[in-house]
This record gives sequence, C-alpha cells and structure tokens, in this order.
Amino acid sequence: MEHSTISTLRIDFVTLFPEMVQSVLDTSIISRARNNKLLETRCINPRDFSDDKHHKIDARPYGGGPGMILMAEPVHQAIRKAATPKSHVIFLSPQGRRLNQEIARDLSLKPHLVLVCGHYEGVDERLRSDFDEEISIGDYVLTGGELPALVLADAVTRLIPGVLKKADAVEKESFSGPLLDFPQYTRPQNWRGKKIPEVLISGNHELIRQWRSQAAETITRLKRPDLMTQKTGRKK
Ligand SMILES: C[S@@+](CC[C@H](N)C(=O)[O-])C[C@H]1O[C@@H](n2cnc3c(N)ncnc32)[C@H](O)[C@@H]1O
Repeated sequence: MEHSTISTLRIDFVTLFPEMVQSVLDTSIISRARNNKLLETRCINPRDFSDDKHHKIDARPYGGGPGMILMAEPVHQAIRKAATPKSHVIFLSPQGRRLNQEIARDLSLKPHLVLVCGHYEGVDERLRSDFDEEISIGDYVLTGGELPALVLADAVTRLIPGVLKKADAVEKESFSGPLLDFPQYTRPQNWRGKKIPEVLISGNHELIRQWRSQAAETITRLKRPDLMTQKTGRKK
C-alpha cells in the first residue's frame, strides 16, 4: 500500500518523562514535520491518572524480585485518553518484534500511533491486552521506552511524504531497496590527500549511476552479506 494523499500522522507518547520526549520532538526533521503540519504529537503522562496523593505509579512485584513495576491502571487511563478506535497502540518492549524499515513504512501509513513507554522493570502483564502490538528496537535492554519510541517516531516521520525535501531521498536510502546506500562525497575534492572517485565529477550521469549501483552492491556484500541473500536471492 502506498500513501495516496498527503495527510497528517498523529503520534501520542504515553510517557513518565514528557520533557525527554519533547526535547527530541522539538529538534531537526521531526520539529520541521510538526511545523509543516505533517506530524502532530502529544505527550500523555500516566502520573496524571494516578489516584495516589503522591502521584505514585509503580509498585513492588507480586512474588518478590528486584525493582518496581508500572501499575496497570494509570497507564491504561493514559492510553484511553490517547486512543480512538482508529489508533494503533504500540508498547515499546525488548520482547516485541524487531523494528525495521518495512515495519516503519507500514506504520507511516497509519493515521494515529500511540507509543507506550515502559519504565522500571516493566509494566503489569495484565496491560498487554491494551496493545495492538509490541515493538523492540534491538536485542538489548534500555532503562525506558522513551528512546525506543523516539527511534520509531523518527524512522516513521521521515517516510511521511513531504517531510524530506527531496522526494526521492527515501527511496535511495539503505533498506528501501535490496542494497545499502552508495558512498557519498562532498567538498573538497582532495581532503588530506584522499581524492574522490573521478567519475563523480565527469558530468556523465549514466556513468555515475552505474558506478553508484556497483559501489552499493560492493558495500552491501562487504558490510551486510545477509541482505544479498535475503532480498535479492543472490549468493554471497
Ligand atoms: C528496564 S526495561 C524492562 C525490561 C524487562 N524487565 C525485560 O527484561 O523484558 C524498561 C522498559 O524499557 C523499554 N525498553 C527497554 N529495552 C527496549 C528495547 N530494546 N526495545 C524497546 N523498548 C525497550 C520497555 O518499555 C521496558 O518496559
């Protein structure tokens, strides 16, 4: 499925640390997408839904063990505040399916994402039915879901049509096709004795295209031979 019309994507972050999330949302391409009304964001803090007078949202795990667990009710209330029937609710979790460009592309087609950030030792297991899916950003454990949610939001935002200035930029990036991106050079032509490939200043666009395509293949074989067999069916 492709984007047919340009529409605004909404991303709500359910987070105990809205200031951490907001600082990234106010920066670079995500900020520009927000200013251009291609992306709308909001942070919702489960702490605001705690019925405890100290706004406590965590408690010790039943059965014992280290650390604290995020209680289900404040997170559930925060999700309910954010979500509508059209929302796609994602829990960022090391146990989820691993984020990749294909998943980012699918998510960029949704009208509304609700990204739920865990913290401490995790969330009460009974909350899982509130999520449409769980996504991990890799096989390692971070302190909280804020960085993973921002990684996902960044990957998705740059795929919204109109966010990147050059429409073809996304198509030529690594993971958009079977190969990694080709090597890029900029001024000066000779940097500390290292010269750029002559072909790039030849003015011959067909030769440049061929060189880049060959270089992309060489780089992919070298750095990610698994992609060559996965996506092209070619032997390493
Ligand atoms: C310290 S982690 C909890 C890890 C949990 N006890 C486990 O072993 O699966 C706290 C929160 O950080 C987030 N998190 C940590 N690593 C992550 C990853 N690789 N991908 C996505 N979210 C992650 C999740 O929201 C998680 O609930």
